[in-house]
Amino acid sequence: DESLETVLVAFDDERGVGTITMNRPDALNALNGQLRDDIIAGLESLEERNANADGVALRAVVLEGAGEKAFCAGADIGGFSSESAGGSSARSHYDVIRDFPAPVIAKIDGYCLGGGLETALACDFRLASEDSTFGFPEVNLGILPGAGGVQYVEKLAGPSVAKELAMFGNHISAERAGDEGLVNHVYADNEFEDEVDDFVTELAGQAPLAVQAIKKSAAMAVQTGLEEGIEYDRQLFAELLETEDHAEGAAAFGEDREPEFEGK
Ligand code: HXC
Repeated sequence: DESLETVLVAFDDERGVGTITMNRPDALNALNGQLRDDIIAGLESLEERNANADGVALRAVVLEGAGEKAFCAGADIGGFSSESAGGSSARSHYDVIRDFPAPVIAKIDGYCLGGGLETALACDFRLASEDSTFGFPEVNLGILPGAGGVQYVEKLAGPSVAKELAMFGNHISAERAGDEGLVNHVYADNEFEDEVDDFVTELAGQAPLAVQAIKKSAAMAVQTGLEEGIEYDRQLFAELLETEDHAEGAAAFGEDREPEFEGK
């Protein structure tokens, strides 16, 4: 395990699960430039470890916030710039999460606001404890969610919910976020750790190359028309048919046993 200035990085090589912990609990893990850089560096170090793995290679990443109160309370109000919204020539942490080959799971326990909610929305899955709260308070500061928040919520929950969240700036409960499709699962507080762990373990056991292809397909679906998207899926499908994982999955089915995927 290693620590960057504002991020803790851990890797469990039995399951192939990396964990990135945003570690500015005194500021509710607000995103300053250092934290944004460290999230990128943390993900890159997991990817490197992946290339040199002895045990199970990297199959999933959990992104969480340190402390009792927050996943992330948004961009650091101390200093906004267009970089806060990922607007510079360099790749933002939002881009790096979206393009990361393995799925990234936002583990949300507490405040998930503004750029913190946008960070969660850039992840592949959002798992929340029941006392988490969600919102876009930017309008109270005279700005809008600058890293695609309205766009993401519009795709997941529709324009009414996107505009209600962003124009009023109020917090909504985890239960409502679940009902609106903004989070995948809401878990009782006393079951949160175990439920997240089970979700991540199951995901990490899925055929890795298929999971990576599905992430790419899902990203394509939000950018392109249906016909082009289906054509893209056909190519991915043809590639996966050639993999050892597919042969293993088919053999395991025939032999009535659990498959052991190696990501090859
Ligand atoms: C910097 C923050 C912060 C933030 C909280 N803190 N949010 N510091 N940037 N976004 C700090 C507080 O100043 C305080 O520091 C400590 O964290 C604890 O917060 P409190 O306010 O004392 O806690 P509490 O009373 O429980 O209230 C929690 C809260 C409130 C409701 C989450 O902190 C809050 O409203 N925060 C701002 C949320 C916000 O507006 N986020 C969106 C930012 S805009 P001290 O030193 O006093 O202990 C954004 C734009 C993204 O994200 C788009 C790109 C440009």
